Amino acid sequence: MKKGRQVSNWAAILCFLGLVALSCAAGTDGASRQKLKVEKHLRRLNKPPVKTIKSPDGDMIDCVDITKQPAFDHPLLKDHEIQVRPDYHPEGLLAEAREGENHVRQLWRVNGRCPENTIPVRRTKKDDVLRASSVKRYGKKNCRSAPIPKLVDLDLINMGGHEHAIAYVEGDKFYGAKATINVWESKVEQPNEFSLSQLWVLGGSFGEDLNSIEAGWQISPELYGDNYTRLFTYWTSDAYQATGCYNLLCSGFIQVSSEIAMGATIAPLSSYGGSQYDISLLIWKDPSKGNWWLQFGNTLVIGYWPSFLFSYLGDSASMVEWGGEVVNSESGGQHTSTQMGSGHFPSEGFGKASYFRTIQIVDESNRLRAPKDLGTYTERSTCYNIQTGDNEHWGHYFYYGGPGRNPNCL
Ligand SMILES: *[C@@H]1O[C@H](CO)[C@@H](O)[C@H](O)[C@H]1NC(C)=O
Repeated sequence: MKKGRQVSNWAAILCFLGLVALSCAAGTDGASRQKLKVEKHLRRLNKPPVKTIKSPDGDMIDCVDITKQPAFDHPLLKDHEIQVRPDYHPEGLLAEAREGENHVRQLWRVNGRCPENTIPVRRTKKDDVLRASSVKRYGKKNCRSAPIPKLVDLDLINMGGHEHAIAYVEGDKFYGAKATINVWESKVEQPNEFSLSQLWVLGGSFGEDLNSIEAGWQISPELYGDNYTRLFTYWTSDAYQATGCYNLLCSGFIQVSSEIAMGATIAPLSSYGGSQYDISLLIWKDPSKGNWWLQFGNTLVIGYWPSFLFSYLGDSASMVEWGGEVVNSESGGQHTSTQMGSGHFPSEGFGKASYFRTIQIVDESNRLRAPKDLGTYTERSTCYNIQTGDNEHWGHYFYYGGPGRNPNCL
């Protein structure tokens, strides 16, 4: 364990230096060369649509032939036969299907739907790519994102300004995870910061070969150009370096649903002291073909990550994390006032603080069950905190989040 941390610290330093070098090099690039690069990248990402739906938030949602989606640009997916549905769901889902869904959906759906055998893809605009530090980094997280609980050397990890409030399980083999996540519009102070709430399914130690599959909601002005709360996924097989990306912004994730667009705005959102809305996300490894599937709500299968994308996750996950993450850019030398969750501390409870409920893992017999020994981790609990509990109605749950800057967090 100790050795793994040493390695990951070096990875953090190298990653940081790499970013500095990148931003220095960008200035010398000819403007026209840059323009060509951006246009080429846009052509790669935006496949010719069968139909386009304009969302009230300004997004263009392209309905793309399911066999022409970005995943199939991957050399290893050239002859891939799409699995239209998983062979197996985890056992124990049925019990929960009785619970009424609270009709959270995506904003673009008020203006139409995609035909059968197409998938909705949020069109990437030129400005989306130009906001990234480079064309190559567009759609990728900058360096490490998955938090390392119990880490001793906090200074190194805080280098990127990422702060978390999470619950986690480790020390077993996991084959999936589920949670119902309260959705909010967290305020993000600076355009280069973000706020997200998600689950991480992790494989390997925290070295340079960390495998991660992630899903949740996020507000990211840099990625989307606005402050809307959006559904997202992420994957990497090398600790956020060369492989993986958000949503469908690289080839890898294979989407089968015509109803959900990755990266599209979620509606409605919860309000402080008012109506509460949440989304259920389930990630699990189909024991038959070994692919990792993603489901939204109790019935809506979105798609899958083929097993061969990963090393450790080709077998199983060694850790699962649930919770929030923000970037604190310390602009003006002060802690950011970017919110996590509702922007209120866990102690305020239901209707005021954000929550994750019915937290479960999938065990090796493909059964959903409550996690044993749920640990918690936060870098600065005076900025963002977490409080776990369990009861009959919600199973294992936690409240998490906070306002960032306040008299105890400067
Ligand atoms: C996003 O929110 C920030 C902080 O509240 C605000 O300054 C900014 O103008 C917003 N950006 C957009 C695109 O609405």
